[in-house]
Amino acid sequence: MTVPAEPNDPVNGDIRKLPMMPIRDMVIFPYMMTPFVVGRESSVRALEEALTGDRKIFLATQHDASIDEPKAADIFTTGTIGNIVQSVKMPDGNIKVLVEGVERARTIHVSDTDGFFVATVRTSRAQLQVTPPVEQLMQRVTSLFEQYVKLQQSLNLETVISSVRLDEPAKLADVIATNLQLSIDDKQQLLDLFDPEVRLERVADVLDIEIEKLNMDRTIQSRVKRQMERAQKEYYLNEKIKAIQKELGRGEKSEFDELKKKIEAAGMPKDVLEKAMQELRKLEAMPPMSAESTVSRNYLDWMLAVPWKKRSKEIRSIDHAEKILNEDHYGLEKIKDRILEFLAVRQLVKNPKGSILCFVGPPGVGKTSLGMSIAKATGRKFVRMSLGGVRDEAEIRGHRRTYIGALPGQILQHMKKAGTRNPVFMLDEIDKMASDFRGDPASAMLEVLDPEQNTAFQDHYLDVEYDLSQVLFVATANVLHTIPSPLQDRMEILRLHGYTELEKVEIAKQYLLKKQRKATGLKESQCVFRDDAITEIIRAYTREAGVRNLEREIGNVFRKVARRVVKSGAKHKEEVTAANLHEFLGVPKYRDSQVQEKSEVGLVTGLAWTEVGGSILQTEVQVLDGKGKLTLTGQLGDVMQESAQAALSYIRSRAHQLGLARDFYRNVDIHVHVPEGAIPKDGPSAGITIATALTSSLAKVPVRRDIAMTGEITLRGKVLAIGGLKEKLLAAHRAGIFEAILPADNRKDMADLPELLKSTMKLHFVEQMDEVLKIALEGPLPELYAESPVALGVIPATLPEPAPDQPVSHQ
Ligand SMILES: Nc1ncnc2c1ncn2[C@@H]1O[C@H](COP(=O)(O)OP(=O)(O)OP(=O)(O)O)[C@@H](O)[C@H]1O
Ligand SMILES: [Mg+2]
Repeated sequence: MTVPAEPNDPVNGDIRKLPMMPIRDMVIFPYMMTPFVVGRESSVRALEEALTGDRKIFLATQHDASIDEPKAADIFTTGTIGNIVQSVKMPDGNIKVLVEGVERARTIHVSDTDGFFVATVRTSRAQLQVTPPVEQLMQRVTSLFEQYVKLQQSLNLETVISSVRLDEPAKLADVIATNLQLSIDDKQQLLDLFDPEVRLERVADVLDIEIEKLNMDRTIQSRVKRQMERAQKEYYLNEKIKAIQKELGRGEKSEFDELKKKIEAAGMPKDVLEKAMQELRKLEAMPPMSAESTVSRNYLDWMLAVPWKKRSKEIRSIDHAEKILNEDHYGLEKIKDRILEFLAVRQLVKNPKGSILCFVGPPGVGKTSLGMSIAKATGRKFVRMSLGGVRDEAEIRGHRRTYIGALPGQILQHMKKAGTRNPVFMLDEIDKMASDFRGDPASAMLEVLDPEQNTAFQDHYLDVEYDLSQVLFVATANVLHTIPSPLQDRMEILRLHGYTELEKVEIAKQYLLKKQRKATGLKESQCVFRDDAITEIIRAYTREAGVRNLEREIGNVFRKVARRVVKSGAKHKEEVTAANLHEFLGVPKYRDSQVQEKSEVGLVTGLAWTEVGGSILQTEVQVLDGKGKLTLTGQLGDVMQESAQAALSYIRSRAHQLGLARDFYRNVDIHVHVPEGAIPKDGPSAGITIATALTSSLAKVPVRRDIAMTGEITLRGKVLAIGGLKEKLLAAHRAGIFEAILPADNRKDMADLPELLKSTMKLHFVEQMDEVLKIALEGPLPELYAESPVALGVIPATLPEPAPDQPVSHQ
């Protein structure tokens, strides 16, 4: 058979046909003298065949030593042609042979006809000249081998000496390969290299690695030895303690037995149970008190701490739920209805899509406390986890056990706290979750909240699947827009707005007073809280959308009263009224200032919406001599800057009607400032506020301070709709402003407004900036009212000449 060799293949030598013997557990290299015993029938035949001929036999290693009757495919294709130096038949029929490796060869074809293998093999002609680089390589290999032999004590020095003297590179590589303690696969890889230079290089690499390994082994060995000594000592002392305790009659009940009982009783699913048992077996085998046994014990403690089986008995009655929700919260009718519908649907459908509630609203409006009520109403436990500032996936899923001090993630830590599989699990501040290079917590949360995936939640620490599907998740947020939309999709959003003053009074009377009175242990007879005191707290000591500060201040009052009662005896009685409130709470923090202050030029009351509810924002404009610069200060965002530009453009287009010089803006610097710089502000809804302030200061006409306004402005002076109307009007109302200018397009939101706002506030709905000015400016602006030849807001082709008293600048 003639198969042409590949042009670049070093296997390019003669073709020979030889009996082949598969060998196990070793690889035979050229130049190697190997004694072994031949027992297999087919091998004996092959040997006999070789002995009748030129005593050459092809020796190739089996892939798997355990196969007794290998096929051709079970044998490596590269092997060594061996010369049978000696063969002795032994009494048991086996033959003992001594074989010398001659050269490597690769099988081209193998036949198995007469009960043994015959291989057609090709040898190699590759030669390597000893050039200086090759010489250098040989020296390196030799010196590495010397190091190796020193570390590997099982080799004798003589082999080294004989190989050091070798001056033939190919031979050097093979002799060293023969002497290395490597796996069969590694040796076979060396045998596979027909090119002597490549082979020599590979031997050098292998030596490098092996030396490294041996060095490492040494350090580890000495460390292990030290540890063993310590562990032995501990073990001995432990045994002694046990013996002493036995002697004292305390009995010896194995803690492992106890652990085992606990694990069996925990109600884990089958594969989790198996994992726990496996860990227990490992723990039993470890030296007690060793570091790894502590790790293992902690792990088992966690496995036992999370609830696998225990669940609260759920209360399914919707009537009961309604009763609880009403007991705990005033008003919020729509929200309560949605919650009850949600609970009803959950009973009918097993995993309805979007089956997670998310309460969105400003602080202190009852988001967290609604969650607690849901738990109470459904008979579940309640746990709360704050996601604010969570930026690392590991905080949710935990760290792998290989980390020192690793723990399960927050989800499972809270499940442990709940102690049951079906708690109400509140995810607070889901809008404040961050993400950075350590991984995206939002995607981990997605898995937690997805009913299709959360039956098999993976915590890195426990490393078993945990079923979260029985948990009722409830999320809270101040704003929606920072919540990633895939998360939003899984949640049913319920919006809570702020409360009106009247609602706050009712909440205080019906809920907060009772709660705080109970907390201070006062009797009703000991402290009477008059309604006007509550109103006074709301107006003068708090300024908020919710009722958190109100509750806190009421608590403060009760504590002060409690102190007086304790001091003067149980008979003591206090009455808290608006008039004496300052005795308890000190100087009022807020004054109803806006109404009393007189109107000013360039100062306008705007309305803004922020994460914490609505608020009023004073906008100031100052016009100075200058060169047409527009400056904005007070942490204004880009959109707000653009609003200011739009407002200015509008005024320029109306310069004539407003009695301004055509190019008034060239000779002045305009400074727009929105105080309370600590709060970043943005959004287009300050447009008409800024325009009014600008007009007022350019035309030197004061603006009414008892009127608030909000609306976006276009270049043509059109007023566009804004968001957050309810919060904004509540804020105006809180601040004692009862008149507001709003975009006409926001009329549609009237339906959502509380009755109180509708009945007590005068609302102007406008479409044009001109209307805003008519309502808000105090002085006459005759030109504005006059019939104008100019189409509204459009800059005419020819503008009237500037009034003579305005200086004309030439630039
Ligand atoms: N409608 C209400 N009826 C009765 N009490 C209420 C109502 N709204 C809020 N409260 C009470 O106000 C306090 C603050 O509410 P809670 O802690 O639930 O606010 P929150 O919306 O979770 O705020 P945050 O966003 O700051 O977490 C609680 O004591 C709560 O019981
Ligand atoms: Mg809360």
